[in-house]
Amino acid sequence: MSPSTTQTPRFSPSDTTVVFLLGGPGSGKGTQSSNLVRDYGFTHLSAGDLLRAEQIREGSQYGELIKSYIRDGKIVPMEITVALLSNAMAEKLAQSPSSGGEGKARFLIDGFPRKLDQAVFFEETVCPSEFTLFLDCPEEVMEARLLKRGETSGRDDDNAESIRKRFRTFVETSMPVVDEFAKQDKVISVSATGEVEDVYKRIQAGFEKRGVTVRTSS
Ligand code: ADP
Ligand code: C5P
Ligand code: MG
Repeated sequence: MSPSTTQTPRFSPSDTTVVFLLGGPGSGKGTQSSNLVRDYGFTHLSAGDLLRAEQIREGSQYGELIKSYIRDGKIVPMEITVALLSNAMAEKLAQSPSSGGEGKARFLIDGFPRKLDQAVFFEETVCPSEFTLFLDCPEEVMEARLLKRGETSGRDDDNAESIRKRFRTFVETSMPVVDEFAKQDKVISVSATGEVEDVYKRIQAGFEKRGVTVRTSS
């Protein structure tokens, strides 16, 4: 994104690598994140998981707001999500500071940015991204996966009505983010149908092309 103001981001890309992970609901972002953490030493931060944790945190002023946004498949106001992500990154870096170069801290930010304003705000105030991994998946496949996940996930939004709303939000609000990054040649797009391992092989091929090296410990 091109910055609209001059502001120094909280973290520098010279010692912190940020990769965004986008894809429709049920495309397999969480599933593939586990593989990427194991093989590339990423710290995985899921925006949805952080919002769900904030929703039930005692004393949170945003609990009710987050709950209703999530049930309706709407995008929570970006200030909340960006603050949660930025603080989670700071916490991780305080525990294990980046040693730069080959030891540069790597963050895989799952389910974010879901809207153009989030992308611009994050890159200006937190850290510019290296690239975006996009999991491309047809709605019928995602719907079947989500309905199955809904049998055990306990998530308020894994039901047919919320799923429909989430698909709509994805097409109308989140795809423009992928399109914008694609214009900047910053997207690795991977077909997310088929077996988990096959999807992962495509992701690894994309990473190799971008020169992202395997790293087994974070
Ligand atoms: P997302 O984080 O993108 O919403 P998840 O990783 O939670 O997606 O995957 C949604 C559901 O689909 C989960 O129940 C997961 O186990 C399942 N799943 C993920 N990838 C595949 C795949 N390639 N084939 C079949 N099921 C999958
Ligand atoms: O990524 P996940 O499916 O866990 O996201 C669940 C919900 O959390 C989204 O449908 C949306 O309501 C909310 N969310 C958001 N902004 C993000 C990520 C998730 O509002 N960047
Ligand atoms: Mg997920």
